[in-house]
Amino acid sequence: MSDCLIAPSILSADFARLGEEVDNVIAAGADWVHFDVMDNHYVPNLTIGPMVCQALRKHGVTAPIDVHLMVEPVDRIVPDFAEAGASIISFHPEASRHVHRTIQLIKSHGCKAGLVLNPATPVDILDWVLEDLDLVLLMSVNPGFGGQAFIPSALDKLRAVRKKIDALGKPIHLEIDGGVKADNIAQAAAAGADAFVAGSAIFNAPGGTRQAYAEVIGKMR
Ligand code: DX5
Ligand code: ZN
Repeated sequence: MSDCLIAPSILSADFARLGEEVDNVIAAGADWVHFDVMDNHYVPNLTIGPMVCQALRKHGVTAPIDVHLMVEPVDRIVPDFAEAGASIISFHPEASRHVHRTIQLIKSHGCKAGLVLNPATPVDILDWVLEDLDLVLLMSVNPGFGGQAFIPSALDKLRAVRKKIDALGKPIHLEIDGGVKADNIAQAAAAGADAFVAGSAIFNAPGGTRQAYAEVIGKMR
């Protein structure tokens, strides 16, 4: 792991060859596997669940699996993901009736806990839970789909959250998700992000080979 964590979102991977795709991005230098869970309820799309997470572990994936839950309700799926081998579990406050309780639930299952802020969600919610979190995930697109354009106001939000994390002085990751590419990642890093989700920018690299992924990840670094 390095200071600047690259987390390819497997939402844009070839699902028919998922194990191979994950092996390839990890061999290409990725740090985390970003695992987007969508329920066609909290967000208008349907993706993958704990069984797929477990299958990746069974396949031999040892890298941290960074689970981004876009599901409502959240709590009943948390134990299943912990058991399936999730490392970090992040959720949206709008999808949990008791945000503090969900954070404790995730931690009680041995996972790191993250809170996800949508583009229109105020940062104030962090004031009463930040010290319990391991990660803040800022959305730079509206959740639900890969391949959308980066919303520029996310940069100001990154700066605001970075200030809060630094003031607290705890090693909490600040991750940015949505529309991150080689040509805007430096701006996100300068604004305070230290973990970067990238789906289409990595998996749509021409050829879709390990070498192609390594080239994009190298450019991002
Ligand atoms: C959106 C997901 C993102 C998305 C990123 O709801 O949370 O992780 O897959 O994809 P790109 O990098 O293509 O915007
Ligand atoms: Zn995501």
